[in-house]
Amino acid sequence: MSDLAKHLIDRLPKAELHLHIEGTLEPDMMLKLAKRNNVTLPYHSVEDVQKAYNFDCLQDFLDLYYLGMSVLLTEQDFFDLTWAYLCRVKEDGLTHVELFFDPQAHTARGVSFETVLGGITSALEQAQKELDISSKLIMCFLRHLPEEDAFEALDCACKHKEHIFGVGLDSSEKGYPPPLFERVFAQARKEGFTPVAHVGEEGTAENVREGLDVLKIERVDHGNHALDDPFLTARLAKQQTPLTMCPISNWRLKGIPSLAHSPVKKAMDAGLLVTVNSDDPSYFGGYLNDNYRAVHEHLALDEAELIILAKNSFKASFLDDEEKQKQLDAIDAMVDDVKRL
Ligand code: HPA
Ligand code: ZN
Repeated sequence: MSDLAKHLIDRLPKAELHLHIEGTLEPDMMLKLAKRNNVTLPYHSVEDVQKAYNFDCLQDFLDLYYLGMSVLLTEQDFFDLTWAYLCRVKEDGLTHVELFFDPQAHTARGVSFETVLGGITSALEQAQKELDISSKLIMCFLRHLPEEDAFEALDCACKHKEHIFGVGLDSSEKGYPPPLFERVFAQARKEGFTPVAHVGEEGTAENVREGLDVLKIERVDHGNHALDDPFLTARLAKQQTPLTMCPISNWRLKGIPSLAHSPVKKAMDAGLLVTVNSDDPSYFGGYLNDNYRAVHEHLALDEAELIILAKNSFKASFLDDEEKQKQLDAIDAMVDDVKRL
């Protein structure tokens, strides 16, 4: 890797737009919280946990993801989890994050919505003050659970609109297409939440189309399989609907056979507003900058394309125009600095 590429990846201001906070639970924190909360896990050491992180598909990962989060019980646990992630990505030059959380995975275990939200939002507020990282929170509905449960989560979110910006859709994509959630998304939009959804990760281009047309999503999470359909690709390019792609996640979940097969470059070349993100960095073994390094090395993205990806991360964000411009100006200033090195 050239020195210029290395410095750009390390130092450019960036936003992360596809990040599940529960997917940042590192093995050492998992074991520490299990002990603190008297939760029994099938693992006794960090190595045991790491050995389990070997996935053949999305469902394989989800099974472990839901098991891992069983150690999260108190507001302090959610604070510690979120704060650890924010401190970690401060080192990657991250200045803005739009993060997902999965309240149904916690309320189903008897942890209250307010416990989860309280811990996450305290850490986000502290990050704004102490780390100069801004944020927006997106509440995901779990698509393997019934519509009725999603409506319950939406009721809870409506009591905390000041802390929750958007709604998303995650968990198992196969067998749970977007129309199952048409009504709850319509209600969420009426309540003022901005809609996004995981579509086209393991599912087809049709799921992406339904995300756009039925759920009326403003950003596509993953969206890899949109590229299978030239008409849909052209539409996404024309509308500049952002895609939040996650190369290391795709590789670790065997959605692609190697990082060289990541669709990031192909999507950029097709004129799409592409961003690069980590998804569940602890489980997939790579934080934000590892994903930038992966596309640089395996797709031969040049320095100019790395700068485009960093800029796209803000263009695709839900920041207002003035905040976006500030971040884009900061990138230009950093590029000048790095080139002088
Ligand atoms: N896809 C679907 N659901 C998820 C993911 C993902 O990548 N990460 C956490 N929940
Ligand atoms: Zn995801």
